[in-house]
Amino acid sequence: MHPDKPAAARKDSHLDLALDPRTQSPGENGFDRLRLTHCALPETNLATIDLTTEFLGYQLEAPLMIGAMTGGTKRAEQINHALATIAENQSIALAVGSQRAALQAGQSARILRDLAPHIPIIGNLGGVQLAQSGGIDLAQAAVDDLQADAIAIHLNPLQEAVQPEGETDWVGVKSAIATLVKTAAVPVIVKEVGAGITAVLAAELFDMGVTAVDVAGFGGTNWARIEAARRRGDADMFAPFFDWGVPTVDCLRAVCHACPDRLVIASGGVRHGLDAAKAIRLGADMVAAAGPMLAHLVANNAAFDLSKLQDFVSGWKQQMALTLFLTGASDLAAFRQAEICCDGAVIAR
Ligand SMILES: Cc1cc2nc3c(=O)[nH]c(=O)nc-3n(C[C@H](O)[C@H](O)[C@H](O)COP(=O)(O)O)c2cc1C
Repeated sequence: MHPDKPAAARKDSHLDLALDPRTQSPGENGFDRLRLTHCALPETNLATIDLTTEFLGYQLEAPLMIGAMTGGTKRAEQINHALATIAENQSIALAVGSQRAALQAGQSARILRDLAPHIPIIGNLGGVQLAQSGGIDLAQAAVDDLQADAIAIHLNPLQEAVQPEGETDWVGVKSAIATLVKTAAVPVIVKEVGAGITAVLAAELFDMGVTAVDVAGFGGTNWARIEAARRRGDADMFAPFFDWGVPTVDCLRAVCHACPDRLVIASGGVRHGLDAAKAIRLGADMVAAAGPMLAHLVANNAAFDLSKLQDFVSGWKQQMALTLFLTGASDLAAFRQAEICCDGAVIAR
């Protein structure tokens, strides 16, 4: 099959636009409304704080994941190689972006498994593509190609609706996910891409047999803005939707409350290790970031700077460890009992 040239061009322009600060919704994720209560006498040692986490059968150094970003073009593949190298090095999980374009062009990303043999790698396909003819087979091919440990299905109705060439027939996506859950050889994760997943939908997905939900809420990378920037002449039509979505913290609180024993991934505008720790305290099992990782890897919009991303990820771990230390917790189990306030009122202790 011939490579899908328009899809490849779209993916490269997504990379450029995602690096533009105007396509972010910073500070609207809700994390600044949260405050962890300070412990002036921590009976613990900052040097030995334990962030280790088990995820999809792997022992990781921290509950962190590089969020799904695009694949299927030369540039995207180079980025994925760099991300896999850093994720393996830092012992955190790696999610890849949609594998559809690459698989349909006959390309393989299996080198990522060689670059990152000791961490979970999560494959990716769009919900709309899953529901199309051959979608379930494509999902299996995505898993096989990467020897992936799970497959994430992304739900992006807002993005598709604003995207000039987007897919807006969503009838059948839910039943396709239900079919995938029954047939897939690996756990199925369902995620948004920055507009959030509500508690009602999360509960329904878990009831269908989905293993984990990544809320991917509003407050970080803004796909309505990115896709509107790609439109010619009629972008203003979509301006009222630039702030559409459920803020990450609202999603997270609601989903963790409604589905307390389920695997929940927090993402969408997580900016640093303190945000990540707050997400864990709200009940997330893992925390993912996409846009910030890309921004620290791609310097000056061109060259890759692996050491900058390496320092960034290791800085998040240090910030998370400091957060535990300042709440008097030695490990994540103890930290999950720490007092946390929202808008000045205690919401958990
Ligand atoms: C350049 C770029 C490409 C992305 N491509 C995908 C994708 O192919 N599949 C997917 O599920 N999410 C994709 N995402 C969405 C992210 O996984 C994430 O849900 C979203 O960006 C919100 O997280 P953030 O605020 O940390 O960026 C992409 C994000 C970026 C920045």
